[in-house]
Amino acid sequence: MPSWLSISYREPIAIERGEGSWVWDAEGARYLDFFGGILSTPCGHSLPEVVEAVRHQAGRLLHASTLYLSEPAIELAELVAEASGIPDAKVFFTTSGTEANDAALLLATSYRRSNQILALRNGYHGRSFSTVSVTGHRSWSPTSFSGLAVSYIHGGYRLRGPFAHLDDAAYTRACVEDLQEVIATTTSGDVACLIAEPIQGVGGVAVPPEGFLAAMADVLEPYGILMVVDEVQTGWGRTGTLWGYEHHGIIPDLMTFAKGVGNGLALGGVVGRADIVDNLTAQSISTFGGNPLAAAGALANLRYLLGNDLAANAARLGERMGQHLDTISDHASVAEVRGRGLMWAIEMVVPGTLEPSPDLAEEIHERTRERGLLIGRGGLYRNVLRIAPPLNATLAEIDEGSAIVVESVGELDHDR
Ligand SMILES: Cc1ncc(COP(=O)(O)O)c(C=O)c1O
Repeated sequence: MPSWLSISYREPIAIERGEGSWVWDAEGARYLDFFGGILSTPCGHSLPEVVEAVRHQAGRLLHASTLYLSEPAIELAELVAEASGIPDAKVFFTTSGTEANDAALLLATSYRRSNQILALRNGYHGRSFSTVSVTGHRSWSPTSFSGLAVSYIHGGYRLRGPFAHLDDAAYTRACVEDLQEVIATTTSGDVACLIAEPIQGVGGVAVPPEGFLAAMADVLEPYGILMVVDEVQTGWGRTGTLWGYEHHGIIPDLMTFAKGVGNGLALGGVVGRADIVDNLTAQSISTFGGNPLAAAGALANLRYLLGNDLAANAARLGERMGQHLDTISDHASVAEVRGRGLMWAIEMVVPGTLEPSPDLAEEIHERTRERGLLIGRGGLYRNVLRIAPPLNATLAEIDEGSAIVVESVGELDHDR
């Protein structure tokens, strides 16, 4: 396997088994899992409903392809279209978030007959040729080759940069002015779309002001530029509402999803306005997209997630977690604690400065692992700790995991 796969921890962990909020490694050590395979198991590991649905489907049919009708895929498409909040939506299933964004870019550029794209600085949209070219994050962007003409605008990340000192309203105003100027100076006006995450996940859980994308949409509207929202991390209740876009006060033209939709099954998709989704003038298939196994598991997962209103649970538990993490927000090594719902981040810096400290982030990452907690890392400088528990975690688990993070950061004082 390639050298550029970023394996976590100095001594890598081989995860063998999971149940609820917990996983066990090959040596039998148990961990509280607050990263969920990169925010992909929102209902916890081995959810009985999903396991049973997969077992049942596996015994009937694993694969047929999009050449044939598939009841699980049709039922799932109906559920996703309904849940999306986009009127009369259509859904195309893929096998990953990357492929979902790739499909959205194909749809938007074909619909608008334009290869021009607007993307947010510090955003991440996937690993393929098309999606790295709209990813505004140096450490995840290995090439500048692209058939797309991409212009980057200011956006989600507010701790650093020329607008860092501004309050919410002034920050949004400055970004709107930047967007207007970028369209006027770097494009020919007929741009296909703006692609944006409601909260930038890989970028270090960068949270823009409420209503930020609505202000951007006002600029796009006169040009007919489409709004594509990437909900691969923020979707399905993660931020305390079903969709991250709800905090922005918009309805997107196209929306992509993956990760949490199948609670660990390889599934993603794009959902959006029927006239855009239907606009391709040639045939297109996905051999495995929405295959019966993934679709049956995802149906069981979403019925559980929606039936138990886990978005509201994420809002409740997130408030509790935020209270715990706030206790370290004025620590000299912490620049910022930020998040929404059950998507949190701690940005580590050289004590008393704003200089990013990937070393301290690594140290806390290792210490939390030693104490039995799995969390993630991210941010432009890899100095951000990312914390994303299952949406159905118990209060006791939230308290336990938060305490491990708080103790691990608090301990830094004693050592230095
Ligand atoms: C916002 C966002 N979009 C797209 C992707 C790509 O998804 P995948 O890794 O399933 O291809 C990711 C993955 O982390 C993501 O966070």
